Amino acid sequence: MKDKINQILENALNELESASTDPKAIDTVRVKYLGRKGELTSLFKQLGKLPPSDRPSVGKLLNEARDKLEEAIETAIKEAKQAVVKAVGKFDVTVPGRKPLVGRLHPITQTAREICRIFTQMGFEVVEGPEIELDYYNFEALNIPKDHPARDMQDTFYISEDVVLRTHTSPIQIRVMEKRKPPIQIIAPGKAYRCDSDMTHTPMFHQVEGLMVGKDVSFADLKGVLTIFVHQMFGAHVGVRFRPSFFPFTEPSAEVDIQCVICNGEGCRVCSHTGWLEILGSGMVDPAVFQMVGYDPEEVSGFAFGMGIERIAMLKWGIDDLRLFFENDLRFLDQFA
Ligand code: PHE
Repeated sequence: MKDKINQILENALNELESASTDPKAIDTVRVKYLGRKGELTSLFKQLGKLPPSDRPSVGKLLNEARDKLEEAIETAIKEAKQAVVKAVGKFDVTVPGRKPLVGRLHPITQTAREICRIFTQMGFEVVEGPEIELDYYNFEALNIPKDHPARDMQDTFYISEDVVLRTHTSPIQIRVMEKRKPPIQIIAPGKAYRCDSDMTHTPMFHQVEGLMVGKDVSFADLKGVLTIFVHQMFGAHVGVRFRPSFFPFTEPSAEVDIQCVICNGEGCRVCSHTGWLEILGSGMVDPAVFQMVGYDPEEVSGFAFGMGIERIAMLKWGIDDLRLFFENDLRFLDQFA
């Protein structure tokens, strides 16, 4: 019995030694030897089974072993606490904290929102339409006949005979006019797709479509609204010009140029030394389009326009490479806080 007590004490002290300053390991030793079912505790329970003459000496030895172990455990706990204090003392409070990465809106999103903000101030309502679109809405109803070059397989992603990825946001015009009666004043941002990829084209890009239809909406309204837009977007000092153009769904049509924001119209590489930059297509809604949606072209008139958001963003921030928008390089994106 005496040998057993000494052996248990020795084991306990050894284990305490390896527990070092780990509070969990110290407690494990305590429970193993001094807990309710601990190895030393259970020896106390066996005292009664010894011959009466042995009990005093074994009992004394047992008490001494327990006291020794309790003392050693207390010391270990004290040392563990000191180790923590020491470690905290080594903690360098001057080390800068780790900054969480904060996301921000992509410059394309920011530009789309800015464009929508300007038009909503003029009474336009923001609407959206599907990116997977029926041939009918993308082409047919916009007065783009079957043999029009814009329908060439080279430009359009076909999903089936009748279903395409929309090549522009103009089908939203048709969807809105089909559902509502004039007056209509909508602006529609979204993605568009064309089978085209080089320095200045990506297969997916963004446009904003605009449509205003009512009684006596005139080309003067078109000029007024778009001039206000340019001045709000690029500054009141920037010149605007309307240049005759052609779209199957507008007549007459005009492309809108702004004075080059890089050289202020002096002529530079960006504007091909013309002093002007094209930013959008526009025109008076073609009577054929009104007929497609059941409007009477004698009763109502309207204008529509569409612009590329990437193009506007590039001019606004002086970005010369379209691909930067799609590479997800944080060094680029972080600059648009
Ligand atoms: N949808 C034309 C394009 O993608 C732009 C446009 C929209 C032109 C509305 C006129 C009116 O180029």
